[in-house]
Amino acid sequence: MLVETSPSATRREVRTARQQGLSIGCVPTMGALHAGHVSLIDAARQQCDFVVATIFVNPTQFGPGEDFLKYPRTLDADLEMCRVAGANLVFTPPVTAMYADSAQTIVRVTKLAQVLEGAHRPGHFDGVSTVVTKLFNTTEPDRAYFGQKDYQQQLIIRQMAADLDQPVEIVTCPIIREPDGLAMSSRNRYLSPHDRQLASRIFQALKLAEQLAAESPLPPTEIAWAMTNHLNSVDGIAVQYAVIADPVTLEPLADRSDSAVALIAAKIGATRLIDNQILRFR
Ligand code: PAF
Repeated sequence: MLVETSPSATRREVRTARQQGLSIGCVPTMGALHAGHVSLIDAARQQCDFVVATIFVNPTQFGPGEDFLKYPRTLDADLEMCRVAGANLVFTPPVTAMYADSAQTIVRVTKLAQVLEGAHRPGHFDGVSTVVTKLFNTTEPDRAYFGQKDYQQQLIIRQMAADLDQPVEIVTCPIIREPDGLAMSSRNRYLSPHDRQLASRIFQALKLAEQLAAESPLPPTEIAWAMTNHLNSVDGIAVQYAVIADPVTLEPLADRSDSAVALIAAKIGATRLIDNQILRFR
């Protein structure tokens, strides 16, 4: 497995692979890898000949007061996981290689990036769409792999790739969960044992929404209320949003429709977690 820190060396390696007729898969990450990331590398390996994982804790997607400085950095363990998972190349640049002091360009998706996470984390998606564009420019992938856990992020990246004619297929991979349902996330390691127990209520709330959509006549607004109520019924969870939305536009759903997505963001102690579940109405 090759490990590169420079964009130009990475592009050179990728172009060499392409000249050999190999298709390229890219798995962008911020490191602190877990089984969810491994599932993305697995998917990329199944569909592409040459798999590039990127590891970069992107400063521009963290707001003031967010966890950029304390975000877990576990490069040695991450490289080992990438190697075992079968990545061909890991691109792990320093901040200076990604952002020149003179940089002036931001990639901004408008409408989709203003709601939910965008409303709670102003500027977050500008950072994501800008860095993902740069990672695409460096790795020139045929396909790029993102987790459904960051539901809004994968929608925004799809929108961006379509709007900017980026020649890459965006592949969204299923959420990988702990045995009690908690979605795997690099931030789970911040949770104290007590908070870790509370965190499983997020999955329970989503399952409740799934059940109510499938088995009751309740409208989406009442299902959203039931999720909020489930989360609020214990101390220690601060709900930021618990909504049922259109799965493509993310607009809140007033009426039952063919499909929907339930999305939750909640703070448990100092840790902010997000999760989601596709719903089918009966
Ligand atoms: O999902 C993440 O880990 C990040 O937002 C991403 C896509 C790697 C961009 O920094």
